[in-house]
Amino acid sequence: MSKMQSLMGWVDARFPATKMWKEHLSEYYAPKNFNFWYFFGSLALLVLVLQIVTGIFLTMNYKPDAEMAFASVEYIMRDVEWGWLIRYLHSTGASAFFIVVYLHMFRGLMYGSYKKPRELIWIFGMLIYVALMAEAFMGYLLPWGQMSYWGAQVIISLFGTIPFGLGEPISEWIRGDFVVADATLNRFFAFHVIAVPLILLMLVVAHIIALHEVGSNNPDGVDIKKNKDANGIPKDGIPFHPYYTVKDIVGVIVFLILFSMVLFFVPDLWGWFLEKDNFVPADPLKTPEHIVPLWYFTPFYAILRAVPPILNSQFPGVAAMGLAIVVLFLVPWLDRSPVRSIRYRGGLYKIALAVFVVSFLVLGWLGTQPAGGIYLTLSQIFSIVYFAFFILMPWYTSIDKTKPVPERVTDK
Ligand code: HEM
Repeated sequence: MSKMQSLMGWVDARFPATKMWKEHLSEYYAPKNFNFWYFFGSLALLVLVLQIVTGIFLTMNYKPDAEMAFASVEYIMRDVEWGWLIRYLHSTGASAFFIVVYLHMFRGLMYGSYKKPRELIWIFGMLIYVALMAEAFMGYLLPWGQMSYWGAQVIISLFGTIPFGLGEPISEWIRGDFVVADATLNRFFAFHVIAVPLILLMLVVAHIIALHEVGSNNPDGVDIKKNKDANGIPKDGIPFHPYYTVKDIVGVIVFLILFSMVLFFVPDLWGWFLEKDNFVPADPLKTPEHIVPLWYFTPFYAILRAVPPILNSQFPGVAAMGLAIVVLFLVPWLDRSPVRSIRYRGGLYKIALAVFVVSFLVLGWLGTQPAGGIYLTLSQIFSIVYFAFFILMPWYTSIDKTKPVPERVTDK
């Protein structure tokens, strides 16, 4: 026995290292027909690690103090060795995270990956998505620029619209002051660097444990566990390691090429990843002309502004925005189709999903435009389309003409 083997034997007698390696990697049988869309789970993991590592280094020079925060970020950009790289990795990484997660969620919608028995994988995913939004929102306050300040001011005041006299106390409780101030910055820092990342990590572990309990879905939506060989191994399964660990490297390389192009040539992506107003220090006395959240929030921002106030209260808009996220949690129960994958669904689901994607993108663009005139009308139309996708789902998925699903995966 080699020294390495005897060391592993010593460890295994005390900690299930080899057992876990087998269960989750070398003997985790994944369907052999994974395609491009299956890169985004591992890419999301990669970006999560990138954000944590760059975040740790940023924290070494960042000052969570209203008097010093903006200057400390400038100090990181100009004076700290490689500070500009760490900061841009983190700010570009935040947008990359959302791009990757949106594509990952879209894959779920295409292949019905949330359907029985994977409902909990989806629920954990949605909780991750909500935590990610909280993480991004609080992180954006930290540079203490004009958009940090006024964006937080607008979003926190939304809680002020909650009726029955609860709104104002709740938003004061969140801010720790009557306006966004030093107390707000301090608590957002605490949440951004430790509380929410911890929650995110725990949720990601739960997400993957749930996935490995039931096994991965695939582009055909075929249940590979139904066809096993004499050793109990799915005939259409291949060990995750080395096959997919190696395949995922291809995804990682393509991702890193695209990511580097943005990172090194247009780190602010012309204001889409870092807004121009955020290079101006926060000024509580001067409201910027347009207060616009970053792109990943704008679809929901458009829905918020599309709903007109009732009895002078903005609450209906806030409620609609909340519901736009809540409905996503319900997808596993709204979808009544007997098949999972879009490959074997009828035209109705294909059209519905395409229209939904268009509405999400258009709402995202409308969220960056001024709220009035034609933009407002369009926001209202597309908000209705957005909700229709979910509300009508039980109907169109049950009458949709599906095709027979093959016994085994196809090699398309
Ligand atoms: C930090 C964010 C996330 C990470 C690190 C992550 C990680 C992963 C990984 C590694 C996989 C397996 C590989 C793959 O199928 O691509 C996976 C599968 C899955 N994820 Fe996520 N995920 C995240 C967010 C989400 C979100 C927001 C949702 C949806 C709301 C979601 C829904 C799913 C589903 C349904 C599957 C199973 C897919 C299938 O088997 O076809 N995930 N995730």
